[in-house]
Amino acid sequence: MNRPETRIEQLLSEMTLAEKVGQMTQIKMDRVGWPEGEERIRRGQVGSVLTIYGASKINRLQRIAVEGSRLGIPLLIGNDVIHGYRTIFPIPLAESCTWDPGLVQQAARIAAEEAAADGTDWTFAPMVDICRDPRWGRIAEGAGEDPFLGAAMARARVRGFEASDLTSGRNLVSCPKHYAAYGAAEAGKDYNTVDISERTLRDVYLPPFQAAFEEGAGTVMSAFNEIAGVPASANALILDTVLRHEWGFPGVVLTDWNAIGELISHGVAADLKEAAERSVLAGVDMDMVADAYHRHLADLVHEGRVPLSVVDDAVRRVLRLKLALGLFERPYTDESLASEVILRPAYREKALEVAQKSMVLLKNSERLLPLDPALKRIALIGPLADDHHHILGCWYRIGRDEDTESVLDGLRAVLPTTTELTHLRGCDLEGREEPDLEGAAQVARDAELAILVLGEGEHMSGEAHSRAYLGLPGHQQALLETVQATGVPLVVVLMSGRPLVIPWMAEHVPAILQAWHGGIRAGRAVADLVVGATDPSAKLTASWPRTEGQIPVYYAHKSTGRPEGGAGTVQFDRLHFSNYIDERNEPLFPFGYGLSYTSFAYRDLEIETPQVGLDGVLIVSATIANTGDRTGDEIVQLYVRDLVGSVTRPVKELKGFQRVSLDPGKDTRVRFEVPVQQLGFHDLKMAYVVEPGEFSVWVGPNAAQGLEGFFEVVE
Ligand code: NOJ
Repeated sequence: MNRPETRIEQLLSEMTLAEKVGQMTQIKMDRVGWPEGEERIRRGQVGSVLTIYGASKINRLQRIAVEGSRLGIPLLIGNDVIHGYRTIFPIPLAESCTWDPGLVQQAARIAAEEAAADGTDWTFAPMVDICRDPRWGRIAEGAGEDPFLGAAMARARVRGFEASDLTSGRNLVSCPKHYAAYGAAEAGKDYNTVDISERTLRDVYLPPFQAAFEEGAGTVMSAFNEIAGVPASANALILDTVLRHEWGFPGVVLTDWNAIGELISHGVAADLKEAAERSVLAGVDMDMVADAYHRHLADLVHEGRVPLSVVDDAVRRVLRLKLALGLFERPYTDESLASEVILRPAYREKALEVAQKSMVLLKNSERLLPLDPALKRIALIGPLADDHHHILGCWYRIGRDEDTESVLDGLRAVLPTTTELTHLRGCDLEGREEPDLEGAAQVARDAELAILVLGEGEHMSGEAHSRAYLGLPGHQQALLETVQATGVPLVVVLMSGRPLVIPWMAEHVPAILQAWHGGIRAGRAVADLVVGATDPSAKLTASWPRTEGQIPVYYAHKSTGRPEGGAGTVQFDRLHFSNYIDERNEPLFPFGYGLSYTSFAYRDLEIETPQVGLDGVLIVSATIANTGDRTGDEIVQLYVRDLVGSVTRPVKELKGFQRVSLDPGKDTRVRFEVPVQQLGFHDLKMAYVVEPGEFSVWVGPNAAQGLEGFFEVVE
């Protein structure tokens, strides 16, 4: 046995059952000086604490654990560091629109630097839930609808969070969540039932988790939701069969908040004791705040309902993690560190870069953007035009409004002093106040161009913030129509935590920039993009529906027995196919879509491996040319379709992407190398297989366009 393992066995042999249960217990402690909590730590009844921020508060608790408890086992301090700690980056959905895992990794690393320097050991991130329903508020926290891109982002975040060379010398462990399929909540309602097939679970929802564990993520959070009748936090299929046996995950399984207690509401446990029994036997190592283990696990062991070996194994995993993090050697955080690390200028610069690369140009039909430098009078209107709060997005935690730049600040910084910028809020976000439509029209009429900054507040997405209507909230649509009716050239900057439903805007507004909730530098990023100091390059990672009635709408859907070809059908003209009688099938903006200030053309697709073996590598190349007059970045995407399978396969699946930067008039050959083993799925026996046969392949700018070719996978 190596040294850490000897130490673990030694500790285990000294621990009482109550102390073992303590290591499996996480309590919340958002204020210091909570005598009962501190007493529990002293008695060795707590293994981990969450929602406590700041090195001095954390050190105080750690001192109780290390110096005041019988065995001196340090606490693990867990917090939600979701898209930045104090340097708040764009929400994860926005970050994913960069299609730049290296950049996303850098952002996660900065979050880790700040969080670890301030005493946090454990972040409850990355959130890797695939989501195909923008009603669900938590779509903001993930990487969108696609498992391939989701897996790439999961890996990037884990690498960033778990960087082993943080400048503080401390470490952070990540916690991919919410295991599993939380994003498949029926009707997009948070915490709602999930009832998907095991194949969909394995093919769509699990790959980002598997990728995160392959990258070394040390822990995982079991979800609130049920999956086909079994709540995730008592689900042996995902927690034991898949996680431990198929994937060999050695780390710690923590539940989501009170998820063990919620087994009672789910109706699979009569009381907290039975709930504790079900969770621990299914494979949950640590109980987040339900106190189910604290109150009942020892009795369950004494009564023979839970084997002691199950408890011992869970405790081993927790102790192993604490040792790996170095907590036994260095339990305390240097309290002077945080002020040196937090909000370093280089971090603010990186936040700006991520924000710029995450904002998606949805429309630019009259080339209104970038703004004509000769403009002398611009109106800046809307509830988010001078916002310093909502741009932080959901889960900003210790992020502060005062760290942010609004769009107004950003424009003032980049526009020539000779440009007159008139600002008017026009209306509030939710429609609580009377809008000033007349004022807005006046300001717009007096200007040569108007920029409207509209959208959602940070409190309209995230946990427990699902929406049934995805249009502009409050009086914002009225404000938009009023300004548009003046005839002034109009740019809309949209901010939101999810895809919105904006058919009117898409039809009537010539230029739309989707800015998401872009973090502390969002205002400056918008300004840089709008004036053309930098070019938009981001692309959507979730489809934008035309109407809520299309949801779920996602590119990797199945063919059905009556596929609707082409763009989809409008109004009664093609019955008996899989379509609506009153709406088209395709989304307003497809997955992978986003414009640039330049234009790109795709040509000369070559399938370099028209026949490729099961263990081979598919090689496909195409020429991408910059046909516009500005330098720009294009995100080139590769999709495949397995034409005939033993089970049905999606009509398209992303299997590769590359960002290329091209000067005007220049072109380049983009070459994709895709291991054939990545083209598989789970068959009738739930085995992962790649089946020989014909495939289509596309190289294109988004999921709806591209050059098509064919190849064959052979035995
Ligand atoms: C509940 C949320 O679902 C989860 O994402 C979060 O990490 C925990 N609360 C802890 O705050």
